[in-house]
Amino acid sequence: MNSSRNDPCWCGSGKKWKKCHYPQMPTTSLAEKYFKQYGIVLKTPEQIEGIRRACRITAEILDELCKHARAGVTTQELDDLSQKLHKERGVIPAPLHYGHPPYPKTICTSLNEVICHGIPDSRPLQNGDIMNIDVSCIWKGYYGDTSRMVLVGEVSEEKRRVVETSKECLRLAIEICKPGAFIWQIGEAIETYAAKQGCSVVNQFVGHGLGLAFHEAPEIPHHYNDVNIEMVPGMTFTIEPMINAGVREAVIDPIDGWTARTRDGRPSAQWEHTLLITESRCEILTLLDK
Ligand code: MF3
Ligand code: CO
Ligand code: CO
Repeated sequence: MNSSRNDPCWCGSGKKWKKCHYPQMPTTSLAEKYFKQYGIVLKTPEQIEGIRRACRITAEILDELCKHARAGVTTQELDDLSQKLHKERGVIPAPLHYGHPPYPKTICTSLNEVICHGIPDSRPLQNGDIMNIDVSCIWKGYYGDTSRMVLVGEVSEEKRRVVETSKECLRLAIEICKPGAFIWQIGEAIETYAAKQGCSVVNQFVGHGLGLAFHEAPEIPHHYNDVNIEMVPGMTFTIEPMINAGVREAVIDPIDGWTARTRDGRPSAQWEHTLLITESRCEILTLLDK
């Protein structure tokens, strides 16, 4: 005699079989759940090794570029050097030909009121400039992404404030990252601190998963948000707060389709790291001296 799912359970609990000892589907693995539910790829140990290597090379290239950024040097010269540094290390600059319209250079150089995606050109750096250099590279199909600010000579109090605030925002956000924390906590930490410093947080650009592609799920907002995704081991993503001295709004250059400037022309600053969530905490993959 076949028993039906609605019969009383054989164990005598009095509950229906389907509500009691009915055989369950094997529980799906965390990796499967994260991919199905969020499109997030949790990385295998082998992939993590590749991403770690890509991130290290990315950080080395950024470090070298920052050493060459001083008054009189053009951002195009930095891009030329970047081309050479990528070639020497056998890595591909991820920005080159990326997106629509295809990005024309190998790095982003975002000066003063430029929030992000500044395109290297013939303008020489001047005393008083602040500049973000953003390097992203591909090593054997694995990605790394990191950026930093460079201060040229004597910079204004306002510029120093956005540079320091965005750096501290990144540090505070990283401090939160570990298994069991939620993605929304990153934005909370950043916007709370930025507001206290009298700065605004850009919300038109976000951090992102990366590793097997340049921009993967999830999006990592830097402003207050409700992204209720729990951090779990094997997640790799960037945090890259863009902090403005004035209003948060960005305006994209209608001619080049990339350069994002503050609407009010006041300065903006950004720092970026790629992170890995480990079993106990997080590892900053784009930190050179660990
Ligand atoms: N590196 C940037 C980021 O942090 C992306 C630059 S896209 C480019 O996500 F095409 F402008 F390079
Ligand atoms: Co990034
Ligand atoms: Co970047």
